[in-house]
Amino acid sequence: MDHNSISTEGGAYAIVVKTSVLRTKHKSTFRKYGMKGAKKSMNKENLIIKNASEVVTCSGFKAKKGKEMSDLGIIEKGAVVVEDGIIKAVGPQEEILKQYDEEHYEVLDAKGKALLPGFVDSHTHYIWGGYRAEEFSWRLRGDDYMEIMNRGGGILSSVRQTKAASKEALYGEGMKRLDSMLSFGVTTVEGKSGYGLDFDTEIKQLEVMQDTDRDHPIDVVKTYLGAHAVPKEYKGREDEMIEEIINDVLPVVVERKLAEFCDVFCEKNVFNIEQSRRLLTKAKEMGLKVKLHADEIVPLGGAELAAELEAVSADHLLQASDEGIDQMAKKGVVATILPVTAFSLKEKYARAREMIDRGSAVALATDLNPGSCFSESIPLVFSLATLYMNVSTEEAITALTINGAAALDRADTIGSIDVGKKADMILLEFDSYKFIPYHIGISTVEKVIKGGKLVYDNEGSPCVYR
Ligand code: NIG
Ligand code: FE
Repeated sequence: MDHNSISTEGGAYAIVVKTSVLRTKHKSTFRKYGMKGAKKSMNKENLIIKNASEVVTCSGFKAKKGKEMSDLGIIEKGAVVVEDGIIKAVGPQEEILKQYDEEHYEVLDAKGKALLPGFVDSHTHYIWGGYRAEEFSWRLRGDDYMEIMNRGGGILSSVRQTKAASKEALYGEGMKRLDSMLSFGVTTVEGKSGYGLDFDTEIKQLEVMQDTDRDHPIDVVKTYLGAHAVPKEYKGREDEMIEEIINDVLPVVVERKLAEFCDVFCEKNVFNIEQSRRLLTKAKEMGLKVKLHADEIVPLGGAELAAELEAVSADHLLQASDEGIDQMAKKGVVATILPVTAFSLKEKYARAREMIDRGSAVALATDLNPGSCFSESIPLVFSLATLYMNVSTEEAITALTINGAAALDRADTIGSIDVGKKADMILLEFDSYKFIPYHIGISTVEKVIKGGKLVYDNEGSPCVYR
């Protein structure tokens, strides 16, 4: 499809394509993607990216632990070759251009800017109905987050609004949120259900995620989080709720391949350690991989449980014990830290610095959701991690690329610029990755390349008076 004749069939996404075309001063030779359902039939093109000031490869095929997180594998004046959406070669430009003839490829001139892998946002709840602005104002005047939930608000308020929302409405909002994430350089995102709790609404959320995955350039990894809160009718009957999930919902989720992961909110007054263990053990037996919302508000021993179950990741961890952190590191469980949630809840940040020093593999993610963290801002994650958690810029980049991929069990296919991986990359507006946290709270991403195709381009000014 030619960019001047982009169809509006793709709904929300087509609008972004149009915006990016309007914003784009330079004439790219890439065809742009903008049709509903087009993802699966995307015509992968062959591409050479040249004149990058630095290719920040984040090279690796598994999670980076401890000191390894500082190694970004930078290639100065680098070039990357893509064939059929997969990285074919990466190295110093002089060598690459001797081996590959530009004549046979689309060529993207990076104009002396920095090239990185696309960001992997490994923890979000991006499909929900309605909003909780009123609740946010209560929290601003001092009300406690868990207190609000215990009196029927919080997650349960989003559950009511998500039940009432049509699939179309959820889809439209979801696509818009993915567009915003794309503008921050995210190329793979994890999405959780958990605003339905009942069978129909949980399945509805997962189906909407599936639809947005099909129609949006960002790849979506789906997680079933039916044990996210306890509805009023199940108060005091949490064990029964877990049994119903195991018997009635999990088999359908597995059978219809609606999710790859199972997650649980393991927290005081939500689901305890025993209930979480029972659910996740069964989920594993049925073939799902597991994750936990662990030790967020109260130190319950969620980190220890994650290690025991060999979960792929345990997330939040604000209150995780030293013992739990060490056990997770030993068992290779990724510690996913969500700084914007701690910031928004005015809680003490998780001990990411100590975790890295103790040899953990740390990932960073946004936790986008309608309550504890209504933000998909990758720049804010960088700001908080580097300025307030003593995580270095290099470690933060690792945490949002290869370690984000590892938190989704995808370190072998995404998260770095390595031969054989998906060609998911971002070009910055600047010549060094060091600008990422330096431009505080602002996205430094100029272009996003997904599977070898340009899907976002912010070069030039979007201001219409010029
Ligand atoms: O990851 N902690 C539990 N779940 C979400 C919050 C959900 C909400 O407040 O709507 C989280 O922070
Ligand atoms: Fe969460």
